[in-house]
Amino acid sequence: MEEKIKNLEENFYKDLSLAKTIVELENIRVKYLGRKSELVYLFSELKNLSQNDKVIYGKKLNSLKENFTNSLNEKIKNIPQEEDYLDLTLPSISPKRAGLHILTIVTNKICNIFKELGFKIVEGNEIEDEWHNFTALNIPLEHPSRDAFDTFYLDIERDKNKFLLRSHTSPSQIRVMENYKVPFKIISPGRVYRPDKVDASHSFMFHQIEGFAVDKDLNFSHLKGVLLYFAKEFFSKDINLRFRPHFFPFTEPSAEVDISCFFCKNTQKEKCTVCKGKGFIEILGCGMIHPNVLENCKIDSKKYKGFAFGMGVDRIAMLKYRIDDIRLFYENDIKFLEQF
Ligand code: PHE
Repeated sequence: MEEKIKNLEENFYKDLSLAKTIVELENIRVKYLGRKSELVYLFSELKNLSQNDKVIYGKKLNSLKENFTNSLNEKIKNIPQEEDYLDLTLPSISPKRAGLHILTIVTNKICNIFKELGFKIVEGNEIEDEWHNFTALNIPLEHPSRDAFDTFYLDIERDKNKFLLRSHTSPSQIRVMENYKVPFKIISPGRVYRPDKVDASHSFMFHQIEGFAVDKDLNFSHLKGVLLYFAKEFFSKDINLRFRPHFFPFTEPSAEVDISCFFCKNTQKEKCTVCKGKGFIEILGCGMIHPNVLENCKIDSKKYKGFAFGMGVDRIAMLKYRIDDIRLFYENDIKFLEQF
């Protein structure tokens, strides 16, 4: 025992004299005072000694431990704190995690609900031609939405076909009908563009999600069932829908759809800032795909029927998260974005 203690002491002071950095000193602490150190081993050996030796060597080992600790601490104190001083006790700095934009989160949520119902996601084109954005959708030449005040036209023309930034996601209907075999159920999210003056509720670019299905025996009640399922999943289980007759050139019959106010639940209507006292909030447009549209895509409208709907993602996100200005989505203010 005597011998072992002497060796240990010698080795310790030799190592200590060579150490120059905090890291090296930490290593020495682990080697000589750690759970697997020689010192701990020697303590465990005490039980094999005579009663007398136990007392003697027990004391020696204890003072050795104290000396080691003091010498180490003393040396650490005297190490100059250089710039690269490494304090191993500091908590680590976790890297900043990037997050999804709130509009991406809402788009994903909506698409996932329709995916559960068997819809497939297809992305359309942001640059479209007049055929896909208007003509094939049964929007006549003289329709006001074709006006340059309502559509961004590009300086490109090919075979008398003008190109533009799509003003809605409905051209995805045409792209799919032209290229896919019936039947299908599609959901198509993306950016759309309109030359609107920017204010709290308008932007020249915003987001829509188009949904549509074509099959043999589809009717309006299928459309209602799908939309009700979506509204209950997305907003709240106790929500109701209200279908108001409307007009779209590409659907017949057409409707605008309102949800019962998920916020005031129709109880405190006068005070509610979400439904503004109406009890209902408009969320989308829909209808049965017009036979002309099916025929434009070479689908037999006697055999096949379709339904379609389109909703504004920005508007729905604003409603759900009670955001009162659409511009917040596009200003990239990290304090706003980090909330979601
Ligand atoms: N495209 C229409 C719009 O932008 C919405 C819509 C889509 C309506 C599909 C009916 C069917 O307002």
